[in-house]
Amino acid sequence: MKRVFCICCFLLLLLTGACCAADEPLPTARELFEQNPAPDVPMACDPRMDPLLVLVNKEQGLPSAYVPELTDLNLFHKPGVHTQQMRPEAAEALARLFAAAEADGVKLGVVSGYRSYGTQKAIHARKVAQRGRSAELTSAPAGKSEHQLGLAVDVSCASINYRLNAIFANTPEGQWVEAHCAEYGFIIRYRAEWQKITGYKVEPWHIRYVGPEHANLVMSLNVPYEIYMDYLKLCWDARAHLPIRKDA
Ligand code: DAL
Ligand code: ZN
Repeated sequence: MKRVFCICCFLLLLLTGACCAADEPLPTARELFEQNPAPDVPMACDPRMDPLLVLVNKEQGLPSAYVPELTDLNLFHKPGVHTQQMRPEAAEALARLFAAAEADGVKLGVVSGYRSYGTQKAIHARKVAQRGRSAELTSAPAGKSEHQLGLAVDVSCASINYRLNAIFANTPEGQWVEAHCAEYGFIIRYRAEWQKITGYKVEPWHIRYVGPEHANLVMSLNVPYEIYMDYLKLCWDARAHLPIRKDA
């Protein structure tokens, strides 16, 4: 009886902990800036203008004609999926990520890389026809997908039949991606507790390339990319307004 009581208390504690974590308010960009106004990350130009950092979401889209430079991903693919592409910087980083995973005994498969405006439009229309408005929480409209940047990729694994499903987070492959993606320049873009900000449900399979320095910082701050980019903007503005010696 005592044992059952202890187990119940333990489960209750776990549940309370999980709920509190989900409810914890996210830091604002201003708070992040006040804590660290000069993070040790590359900022050669206004971060909003940096082609590797560009924010794409439901508010901020890409022109229908936008097509980045692309290269084939010569990596293991979900069986039946044709060769996917990404921007060269991201493709090279993904190849190193896949090799490191394999060295740790973890086999990942590419499911979807670059998607053109037209492809995204067709996918989105199909999902809306299948699922109605709830599709808006899982599929970006044309012009609003990071896949059009060539910097996002969906990865999965054999044990879940290469499905893009939240259970990927519970697989050893998903856990490896969570633990190591930042080392190779990728961030997990959509988490359950960020849905109000990103507009999408959790997607542990969707990783976005931003380069290792930014990825490490985003992942350690544990904030949505939207907040991170607002934070970088504050850092950039503060840097641009530093007084400069007139005779320099
Ligand atoms: N599933 C993500 C949000 C996309 O469609 O780009
Ligand atoms: Zn994706």
